[in-house]
Amino acid sequence: MARTLRVGLIGYRFMGRAHSNAWRQAPRFFPLKAHVELHTICGRDAAGVQAARAQLGWQHAATDWREVVESPLIDIVDICTPNDSHAPIAIAAAQNGKHVLCEKPLALNLKQAEQMLAAVQKARVVHMVCHNYRRIPAVALARKFISEGALGRLYHYRARYAQDWLADPEFPLTWRLRREVSGSGAHGDINAHLIDLARYLVGEFTEVCGQFQTFITERPLPQESDKNPGPVARGAPRKTGKVTVDDAALFIGRFDNGALANLEATRLAPGRKNHIEIEINGSKGSLYFDFEDMNRLKFFNGDDPKDRQGFRDILVTQPGGVHPYVGQWWRSGHLIGYEHTFVHTVADFVNACVEGKPVHPTFEDGVKNQRVLEAVETSATRNRWVKV
Ligand SMILES: NC(=O)c1ccc[n+]([C@@H]2O[C@H](COP(=O)([O-])OP(=O)(O)OC[C@H]3O[C@@H](n4cnc5c(N)ncnc54)[C@H](O)[C@@H]3O)[C@@H](O)[C@H]2O)c1
Repeated sequence: MARTLRVGLIGYRFMGRAHSNAWRQAPRFFPLKAHVELHTICGRDAAGVQAARAQLGWQHAATDWREVVESPLIDIVDICTPNDSHAPIAIAAAQNGKHVLCEKPLALNLKQAEQMLAAVQKARVVHMVCHNYRRIPAVALARKFISEGALGRLYHYRARYAQDWLADPEFPLTWRLRREVSGSGAHGDINAHLIDLARYLVGEFTEVCGQFQTFITERPLPQESDKNPGPVARGAPRKTGKVTVDDAALFIGRFDNGALANLEATRLAPGRKNHIEIEINGSKGSLYFDFEDMNRLKFFNGDDPKDRQGFRDILVTQPGGVHPYVGQWWRSGHLIGYEHTFVHTVADFVNACVEGKPVHPTFEDGVKNQRVLEAVETSATRNRWVKV
């Protein structure tokens, strides 16, 4: 009889909802090696967490994360809180013998990330950072193509992650705009994903050269009652506070295999909602991925006869083991979406917990990611290239 893993999830808003859905769906669509119980959801507001418990399908609610990480009933701690709380929660969870799934960026800074890695290694628990974009079938297929040598020698990794939710200067000063809570701005929030995909698809960064910009330096303070912050009503009296993170972070870099990197992250690109675009060029071909068309991968094969060369448009929905993950969902051509990436993440994590095996991206990947983030920041501050 398969064992049961009981999950404690901390944080119940954006990622809390995405992860709750994943914990519920993973056992229904994937052959998991354990039963999963949505045991406890945790948030600081008693009424809010009770409502989330009822809506998202958890058995119990808690208002103090310590209660969750110390509970002998919990096997897995899933961290969906702002970045400043990742380290204390993950370290305490590991010390209590829990497997840990943690949202990105792993920590506020490299030092914290290293402490988290040391804690999970010492406790010998399974650890994973939720870089869910790795488990988009088209991205996993891109990795397969590259590892099989379909692109030949790699030349370029070009990636852009653009959003527009900060383009309105009235958008309030939420936790993502405060360095002490978030660590950095667009850099740690969305460049972290591009760095992870670069490391997954291309190689390790060796040196970087970056630039940061904060275009809007003061923003209205959020209202106490503002549970779901949007732009502040125009004309309303407003107190403002200083934005202490970057609005945009760009960098170029080199990989250990000689390829060049070109990354851009911004939250001030009007019209761009969650625009992730990646192109990789090599000696034999190219790959192109656009998150807004996430079921597709474009592949240029330089070996095609010259008269019919061009980017192929691969619909990555073929079941029967042809394309990664999608065989667990629908029939060929029946598309999947954002939420499925979290289901794939959770499914792989659960099986790793049962087998006691590492599952990528581990906290070690989180540390390497943080090392790149920090090198870019140093480069931007000192205005020069920095070794990673
Ligand atoms: N993988 C992704 O693509 C992705 C997308 C968005 C956010 N994230 C990451 O997920 C994390 C959470 O982001 P979000 O957008 O869900 O934030 P959010 O503001 O929507 O939700 C944060 C939640 O954490 C709770 N919380 C805060 N401090 C807490 C504490 N001390 N104890 C218990 N609960 C606490 C809040 O009450 C809220 O429920 C961040 O690290 C963020 O970078 C990842």
